[in-house]
Amino acid sequence: MYAHLIGTGSSVPERVLTNADLEKMVDTDSEWIETRAGIKERRITSDDEWVSDLATEAARKALEHAGMSPKELDLIICATVTGDTTMPSAASIVQYNIGAGGATYDLGSACPGFLYGLATAKAYIESGMFRNIMVIGAETTSKVVDFTDRNTCILFGDGAGAVVITATEEEGGIMEVEMESDGALGHLLYLPGMRQRIPVLREKDPVPLYVKMQGNDLFKYAVKSMADSSVKVLEKGGLGIDDIKYLIPHQANIRIIEATAKRAGVPLEKVLINIEKFGNTSSATIPIAFDEAVRDGRIQKGDALVGVSFGAGLSWGAVLFKWY
Ligand code: COA
Repeated sequence: MYAHLIGTGSSVPERVLTNADLEKMVDTDSEWIETRAGIKERRITSDDEWVSDLATEAARKALEHAGMSPKELDLIICATVTGDTTMPSAASIVQYNIGAGGATYDLGSACPGFLYGLATAKAYIESGMFRNIMVIGAETTSKVVDFTDRNTCILFGDGAGAVVITATEEEGGIMEVEMESDGALGHLLYLPGMRQRIPVLREKDPVPLYVKMQGNDLFKYAVKSMADSSVKVLEKGGLGIDDIKYLIPHQANIRIIEATAKRAGVPLEKVLINIEKFGNTSSATIPIAFDEAVRDGRIQKGDALVGVSFGAGLSWGAVLFKWY
């Protein structure tokens, strides 16, 4: 059996936070944000809008697109590090909202979480364990960003994307996967939240709930790891750059995307970029960009694609797949 993506959907909050809005909140300016990060605006949830709300809307759209009933799902995986609650999982809340059956759990691997979800779905389907799986990437990063810290608050946004994956005998679908982590670099990007097990972090960090980031260091690791993963996953699949329609990179910074593409030898016209509208929505960046391109016709049936991501862990990876 092969794991084919057969439906996509996405959802972003209505509220737009522009660079001009941020100028009123921290010592920054619109041009700096646009030139240093490539972001013009991002979407922000209201106080009573949660990850499961965005994920539910994306899930409904993906099911409709796939022509599948929620009852046919065997499993919902929601990749998120900003779930409404630590328990139950956001995936369980989505299951209830859409009236699905099957099993549910959240996958906590920050930005590459959606791609790791695709890898998991591939393994389940190819082993014969499940037939129909929904993978969601959904985040409300605005709820864990310190809006007095100009180093981080300008970068992040909220959103969700979902795909429906099904078992078919037709070759293709999720073809190859490349995944790696280096836990020694975890201090470069972390969100202590409730998981304050590490005393040194507790002492250093009097405000436990916010994302902490060493942007400059991350930048270098992001470019190297995403470029290398893209090349490796193509090699595994026996394909070259010319064989793929698009590289869909994690949208963390336009300069990271451009440097990754250059290092991997991918021309920029083959790179999906929407960071100017949404900023870094963590696990949601790739499924949102994918959904946009499928719906506006840039991605067509049979197109080969590489999704590549990088984030906290540090963790990174790439998935080579074809749209059904
Ligand atoms: N507005 C204006 N100036 C800012 C600023 C802001 N929002 N944020 C930082 N600056 C200042 C810095 O304080 C520094 O000033 P100084 O030279 O007087 O000290 C200057 O701009 C340059 O800072 P630097 O950190 O070198 O900028 P940069 O070009 O590396 O861009 C990031 C900063 C965070 C945008 C960039 O490093 C980045 O995107 N890193 C990767 C982050 C990432 O990917 N995170 C998520 C991974 S999933």
